[in-house]
Amino acid sequence: SSPTPSICGLPLKYVSLVTLAVQNAALTIIMHYSRVSAAPSQTYSAAAAVLLVELLKGTISLVIAFARLDSYAPQYLPNGLQVSSSPWNPWALLGRFHRLGKEVFRPDCWKLAIPAILYVIQNNLQFVAVSNLEAATFQVTYQMKILTTAAFSVVLLRKKLSPVKWLALLLLAVGVGIVQIQSGGHKTPTAQDMNAFKGFMAVTAACFTSGLAGVYFEMVLKNSPGDLWVRNVQLSLFSLLPALAPIVFSSQTGSNPTTGLISSSIFANFGVSAWATVLTQVLGGLLTALVIKYADNILKGFATSLSIVISFLASMALFHFQMTVTFALGSVVVLVATWMYNQPDCSFNETPARSCRR
Ligand code: C5P
Repeated sequence: SSPTPSICGLPLKYVSLVTLAVQNAALTIIMHYSRVSAAPSQTYSAAAAVLLVELLKGTISLVIAFARLDSYAPQYLPNGLQVSSSPWNPWALLGRFHRLGKEVFRPDCWKLAIPAILYVIQNNLQFVAVSNLEAATFQVTYQMKILTTAAFSVVLLRKKLSPVKWLALLLLAVGVGIVQIQSGGHKTPTAQDMNAFKGFMAVTAACFTSGLAGVYFEMVLKNSPGDLWVRNVQLSLFSLLPALAPIVFSSQTGSNPTTGLISSSIFANFGVSAWATVLTQVLGGLLTALVIKYADNILKGFATSLSIVISFLASMALFHFQMTVTFALGSVVVLVATWMYNQPDCSFNETPARSCRR
């Protein structure tokens, strides 16, 4: 992976991994609360939230890409000197916008269409899943994305997995299975409107899109030139159409026939918890991009497994989530599997420092 910049002397790689773990735990709790705290007819539109996230993430990425333009797309004078002009000169500003436009709409920008569509589907599925499963159950079951990420890494990135890693993946599937058994039988008082089967189907599908989109994004980022923030802008641009589609075709909202504008009711019931969900997702998207760039999808899996413990403890305190022996057992198996998966592969014939690889 690329050399990592640092924040206050700490490598961005680790700062982003730890922040992602905390963000993941917070997101599950906030998102779950935002969905179950109101009656289904009083809740906000998940599709509108997904669209807002893409708009905000895209705007932030655009501002960063604009500010960093000279570092990845420098402009030179005929004598080889780099162009330097006042940032407030209108012509220079226009020139910068033009250069940024050329970067964003470079011929290979279409590569981001695939992960963009997959992520929009995944982000919508996530809402279905958290609305129908306990926060902690969702968190543990969503770890199955390590399995799909591994499978897509083997197929698309031609990664080789050691027998220990395959064993860890098998253990992961077993752990998730154990957690599923417990959530079928037991319901907390807040779980009246939940449909566990629907939740599991949504989370399973989200694991597939997560693995494929993550590996595809890593492939584009590491196998072709292009600034991370420009790639993020492209990702958000390609997300807009699929994110808008469910809003336009939804029976409750849609466009106003006289004004042609999308009805303002798409933002109905957007309270504090809905906004908190959107902002936490924006942060998560930006952190995910940093982690994929400076670490990889496998380390990202490790960071998110840490979030199980965090969100599990918070879930007990906030939602009176009751731990059963099967849930605890399943969670421990998932954590052990994740730890095993993240151990460096060692060959005993050579010196460990040389032969161990992640
Ligand atoms: O669950 P998973 O880790 O796959 O979720 C990744 C999340 O990060 C998705 O919500 C996706 O929209 C977001 N993302 C992003 N920008 C990237 C990569 C992922 O916003 N470059």
